[in-house]
Amino acid sequence: MTMTALASTLFDTQAQAPIVYLCDPLLERHGVTVAVKREDLLHPLVSGNKWRKLKYNLLYARAEGFDTLLSFGGAYSNHIHALASAGRLMDFTTIGVIRGEEHDPLNPVLSHARREGMRLHFVSREEYRQRHDPRWQRALQAQLGHSFLIPEGGSNELALKGVAEIWDEVHEPFDYIATACGTGGTAAGLIRSAPEATRILAFAVLKGAEFLHRELERLAAGAKTNWRLLLDYHGGGYARLSADLVRFMDRFEARHGFMLDPVYTAKMMYGLYQEVAQERFDAGSRILALHTGGLAGRASMQAAMARLRDA
Ligand SMILES: Cc1ncc(COP(=O)(O)O)c(C=O)c1O
Repeated sequence: MTMTALASTLFDTQAQAPIVYLCDPLLERHGVTVAVKREDLLHPLVSGNKWRKLKYNLLYARAEGFDTLLSFGGAYSNHIHALASAGRLMDFTTIGVIRGEEHDPLNPVLSHARREGMRLHFVSREEYRQRHDPRWQRALQAQLGHSFLIPEGGSNELALKGVAEIWDEVHEPFDYIATACGTGGTAAGLIRSAPEATRILAFAVLKGAEFLHRELERLAAGAKTNWRLLLDYHGGGYARLSADLVRFMDRFEARHGFMLDPVYTAKMMYGLYQEVAQERFDAGSRILALHTGGLAGRASMQAAMARLRDA
């Protein structure tokens, strides 16, 4: 297959992420419409915000003649999972710089990445803290080989450009768009390109994520004030689960017939439902929630979810 054909299998198609409306007594009671943009359906291996964020990174790397991609992530990183597959599909060599020690056997995310051909380079947590330091990055590139560097979570200018394309597929008016927020790249891409009348609700999934205020201001570049960062729905911290959250997911999935991931989209949706229940939205409000994918990471959480169901 030619390079162009390889690229076209992943990114050159019209994005397929339909908008579905939720039918739910709670939402009806409060007169609020919630629709979900099913970005998780974009691709079986490179889905949700990963598809959006990687698109222009990989196309740019290809155009600039790179054949290797290097990026960073924790052992449960959806970004690493998606990058490994996207790299294989577009015929790149990929290197994942992974926080922490290697465990045998590898967890489902890292074993998937290795199966996809990603070279895993484990670094200590102390070393990993330097991931944004250009000197450390250059040293890594010198050690591991010439490569195009994509930051942790994929959040750079090229990623924001990809996220902005979501609006091309939204043809109805919404007062709000809700997204889970980790590094802030997805929310920032939406903030930068949102129609004037739409506010972005960024649900932080990390505890103590006040720094995201600054980060969103920086990434959104300018005086845009069309967003709100919600800090109370991390549910105890990154990737922490509670019986409440798992119950919510089970009910949601039984009613609406599609899955959420426990680390990002479930916390956003749980938060959104809480905000509706607390009457934070005027009756008649129309909200679009982004399903940013992440379902691959769910495999690693099944056992913890089952324990909470039994508790
Ligand atoms: C499924 C999913 N949703 C949302 C996010 C948050 O995106 P961002 O890091 O751009 O804030 C991530 C992040 O990494 C993710 O994997």
